[in-house]
Amino acid sequence: MALLKRILVTGGAGFLGSHLCERLLAQGHDVICLDNFFTSQKQNVSHLLGKPNFELIRHDITLPTWLEVDEIYNLACPAAPGHYQYNPIKTMKTSVLGAIHVLGMAKRCGAKVFQASTSEVYGDPQVHPQPESYRGSVNPIGPRACYDEGKRAAETLFMDYHRRNGVAIRIARIFNTYGPRMHPYDGRVISNFLRQALRGEDLTLFGDGSQTRSFCYRDDMIEGILRMMGAPADLPGPVNLGNPEEFTIRQLAELVLELTGSQSKLAWKPLPADDPAQRRPDITLAAERLGWRPVVALREGLERTINWFRSIDVSDYRPPTPNY
Ligand SMILES: NC(=O)c1ccc[n+]([C@@H]2O[C@H](COP(=O)([O-])OP(=O)(O)OC[C@H]3O[C@@H](n4cnc5c(N)ncnc54)[C@H](O)[C@@H]3O)[C@@H](O)[C@H]2O)c1
Repeated sequence: MALLKRILVTGGAGFLGSHLCERLLAQGHDVICLDNFFTSQKQNVSHLLGKPNFELIRHDITLPTWLEVDEIYNLACPAAPGHYQYNPIKTMKTSVLGAIHVLGMAKRCGAKVFQASTSEVYGDPQVHPQPESYRGSVNPIGPRACYDEGKRAAETLFMDYHRRNGVAIRIARIFNTYGPRMHPYDGRVISNFLRQALRGEDLTLFGDGSQTRSFCYRDDMIEGILRMMGAPADLPGPVNLGNPEEFTIRQLAELVLELTGSQSKLAWKPLPADDPAQRRPDITLAAERLGWRPVVALREGLERTINWFRSIDVSDYRPPTPNY
């Protein structure tokens, strides 16, 4: 029988965090969800509140906290450009102070701790696809640096706590992930396109639409995160998690129009600063060591996400920044 654990999920009310809480609760674990609701809605976890093995704490991870747990998943951080650029200094604090606080807690109570890192540590990559050994091409003074460099510093802290203090760590570099419960106003390409297509508004494309992205469906990502936490001790990471199938933004727009049956047109805008031209994970390490690879195709994942977008009232969601 699997050993039941006390597990802290920081950012547990967010898009990925709320699904992770659900999966951990379904396995019978005691789950503590910690969140300041900066980019999430309480309704993401309201259906979990009655469960005896679920607790919700409103707390900001930039401030210390004192909990006794066996495992920590550190997901607290705004993830979309419009969200993390809203208060860039706070974003950097969330990554760096948040890492220090969860690592201190892990060291004190002997917990294993997972860090949700990001493909953004590769910046605007010169190597394609990106293996974990690639050290990236990040502009340290650009508008995305608060997130990219914050996550890079967090990886450094994780490795140093591991080497210096023997803390059991697992770092995953997460690539673009989408699915039900993503914030409709997060400003990311899939939520923008779906919101626009369902309202019959023009779909906004930045640049000429030839830049590529790879999109991983939520359920595949949660499975990858769980497998990474269960990885052997000699695999602290970083390990890339993402879907290696690559699409141009224009292809994505056309697929969204087809699946929604929308009559929306395409509208072109200039490319934002430091927007990467290409992004695709090399997931050889995850496939070999975790036996993990995504199984949900973009068409299928989009259909499920479109159904969810149709089921919500978008006006229930705050546009949290002026950048959507
Ligand atoms: N979704 C993706 O495509 C993606 C890609 C790469 C990395 N990630 C990482 O995965 C994690 C989860 O991302 P997501 O897509 O679920 O984003 P999300 O914005 O939905 O979730 C982040 C959660 O963290 C909370 N939070 C933010 N700052 C906090 C603070 N100071 N204290 C406490 N809580 C705070 C937010 O309120 C939110 O609930 C993030 O760390 C993100 O950087 C996500």
